[in-house]
Amino acid sequence: MSFSQKILHWYSLNKRSLPWRNTTDPYKIWLSEIMLQQTRVAQGTSYYLTFEKHFPTIFDLANASEEKILKLWQGLGYYSRARNLHYTAKDIVKNYNGTFPSTYKELLKLKGVGDYTASAIASISFNEQQAVVDGNVYRVLSRYFGVDLPINSTKGIKYFKELASHVMHNSNIRDYNQGIMEFGALQCAPKNPDCTSCPLSDSCVALQQQLVTTLPIKTNKTKVKNRYFNYLVFIDSANKTLLNKRTGKGIWQNLYEFPVLETKEQKADVANEYKKVAPNISAKNILLFNDKPIVHKLSHQHLHTNFWIIAVDSTLENGIAMSDLEKYPVPVLIADFIKTFKISYF
Ligand code: ADE
Repeated sequence: MSFSQKILHWYSLNKRSLPWRNTTDPYKIWLSEIMLQQTRVAQGTSYYLTFEKHFPTIFDLANASEEKILKLWQGLGYYSRARNLHYTAKDIVKNYNGTFPSTYKELLKLKGVGDYTASAIASISFNEQQAVVDGNVYRVLSRYFGVDLPINSTKGIKYFKELASHVMHNSNIRDYNQGIMEFGALQCAPKNPDCTSCPLSDSCVALQQQLVTTLPIKTNKTKVKNRYFNYLVFIDSANKTLLNKRTGKGIWQNLYEFPVLETKEQKADVANEYKKVAPNISAKNILLFNDKPIVHKLSHQHLHTNFWIIAVDSTLENGIAMSDLEKYPVPVLIADFIKTFKISYF
């Protein structure tokens, strides 16, 4: 059996039953593939079902408010995916009569759709011969063929795409592509893969050369930046608080958070500096809510955060009732704080 035949055979025996696997509807495939980027199937599935329920067609998604989409996306991270999803839904409704383009080349033109997603939709929905290369595929190919080129280098990316295209199955690309990803997720797992039960072990270079834990190679991991956020949780006499919408590029664009005072180091003179963020508010009492800074880790940033409860005598302009906070799309860090705060204060 060839490599691709072995993958197909393994897939026929081991594939999980997942909600997007009984359809070839490009809208559903697109939705699932965007959600599964940087997200495991176990986490992504419930989000997929929620989106499918709220937005059964691309028209429903296009017509929804960005706030609703972000709210339902809350917790999945990488929020630009959700904003691009909305943009592209509107684009397809407006410029393609609501019908998905049906070729790899056309799909690539859509915002938020790169080589991976275009290959996935083209092959799974339209049976086009396009090899997908995601993190799972990098791992499987680098181990099985013993390739030590870094998967995040220009040379590596090109090499693996060519290798993937060279070894793909030539009559059942739909199942083969899903099969190799599934194989990477379940059998050729990142940590402690079960090589003893692997049907590809006979000819796996990494196994023969004891390189399973070394491959794939990834170079110069990006440096993590530390940031220090002081969240100002103003509470007025009617128990109302303030939220701001984050604008501009950078993390959490268009999500809500408490007014934030960012400092160069952990230490912050909040009693004086809160005025920089809220010049018209005068604080009666300031209290640090958490015992020690809460560290929220993003892919390239570690946020060291403190939540300051600031009692205010007056009534806040645009104050939001505590009971309305859940309506806003917020980062998980903020959602977690709101939950704990409500339990301990109200
Ligand atoms: N990971 C991302 N997309 C996938 C798919 N269609 N099947 C299995 N794993 C995946």
